[in-house]
Amino acid sequence: MDRQVEHDGIWEAPESMDEVLHSESTSVGENAFRGIVGKGAALRDALRQVEVVAPTDATVLVLGETGTGKELLARAIHDQSDRRERPFVKINCATIPSALLESELFGHERGAFTNAVAQKIGRFELANRGTLFLDEVGELPMELQPKLLRVLQDWEFERLGGTRTIKVDVRVVAATNRDLAQMVRERRFRDDLYYRVNVFPIQVAPLRERPEDIEALVHYFVGRFAARMKRYIERIPAASMEAMRRYSWPGNVRELENLIERAVILSPGPTLEVPLADVERRPADCAGDDDTESLDRLRRMHVLRILNETNWMVGGRRGAAARLGMHRTTLQSMMKRLGLARPREDAFRAPPGCVPRTGSRAAARSCSTHGANA
Ligand SMILES: Nc1ncnc2c1ncn2[C@@H]1O[C@H](COP(=O)(O)OP(=O)(O)OP(=O)(O)O)[C@@H](O)[C@H]1O
Ligand SMILES: [Mg+2]
Repeated sequence: MDRQVEHDGIWEAPESMDEVLHSESTSVGENAFRGIVGKGAALRDALRQVEVVAPTDATVLVLGETGTGKELLARAIHDQSDRRERPFVKINCATIPSALLESELFGHERGAFTNAVAQKIGRFELANRGTLFLDEVGELPMELQPKLLRVLQDWEFERLGGTRTIKVDVRVVAATNRDLAQMVRERRFRDDLYYRVNVFPIQVAPLRERPEDIEALVHYFVGRFAARMKRYIERIPAASMEAMRRYSWPGNVRELENLIERAVILSPGPTLEVPLADVERRPADCAGDDDTESLDRLRRMHVLRILNETNWMVGGRRGAAARLGMHRTTLQSMMKRLGLARPREDAFRAPPGCVPRTGSRAAARSCSTHGANA
């Protein structure tokens, strides 16, 4: 432990180790991207775009699957802008109930609705002269979209129940893991708002498309968790690294981060003990790239396996969302999309070829596709 050195949360180990663990800071610009790890072309390209757009006030749309690092990029944009000394305010459109979202964004006056016992300042006002990170913008309800459009065009709005027009100076960075263009075609997202938000899109590639970043990320997270847990880890077995490079990472970097946290907990000695069962099934690798249907089928099997292993506990530190490296709400909407629901004990009927163990939930779990077809 005494050989570990920590600089700004970054862990360094001596050069002489068999397999040197080192943290990597990407190097597009001097120290500009501390905490963003990886040197592959895809990430470098995204960071170059961050550098270009950050000093402007342009609205940025960060696109990418869950856990790819969209929020990290949004913060980097803020940190590299002239607004860096001002607040970076975040709002997640998916996690706030739609009835409350309008008042969270724009605030309300006292008495605007039942329970509005005091005036409330919304996130747009809190972010004044700073940056507002509109996370999961694809989940913004249709009825709120015109009001957001007006702010993005004229930078003005009224608090709920208010008559005074409030002017703000806010830089907006939005993010989504949805295909907004498709949502526009399906009339679930306004086209005028789409064009306003999509001024400067930055795509963050999924981890499976940039396996060259995995080694650096593993080293970085091992360093972070080892320091936090006061462990000294100096070796990562080559077979484990290879398994991690080959895995498809449906939960992307967040899933890798969670796996390494578990691995460090499981490693009392100097060798990292990676729970290989978690990375040896590679659902996405078995399917053709554009075979969405079989990808979904395989994704479904993988999610189902984790749900079964966590006894259908979705949230919490030991829940399926944490295992998969996703937000609880992201997993819940994925489950809905994939038609995955917890099997009801009384509804269990063994499909042919499946021998129930007890006729109960355990039996339902042993036949993993049951309940998912509902
Ligand atoms: N390149 C990276 N280097 C270091 N850490 C990373 C990197 N990319 C992502 N992470 C870490 O992975 C986790 C997920 O990242 P982040 O929250 O930015 O993802 P996201 O795309 O916003 O996910 P979601 O869509 O689920 O909200 C965070 O803990 C973040 O610090
Ligand atoms: Mg996010």
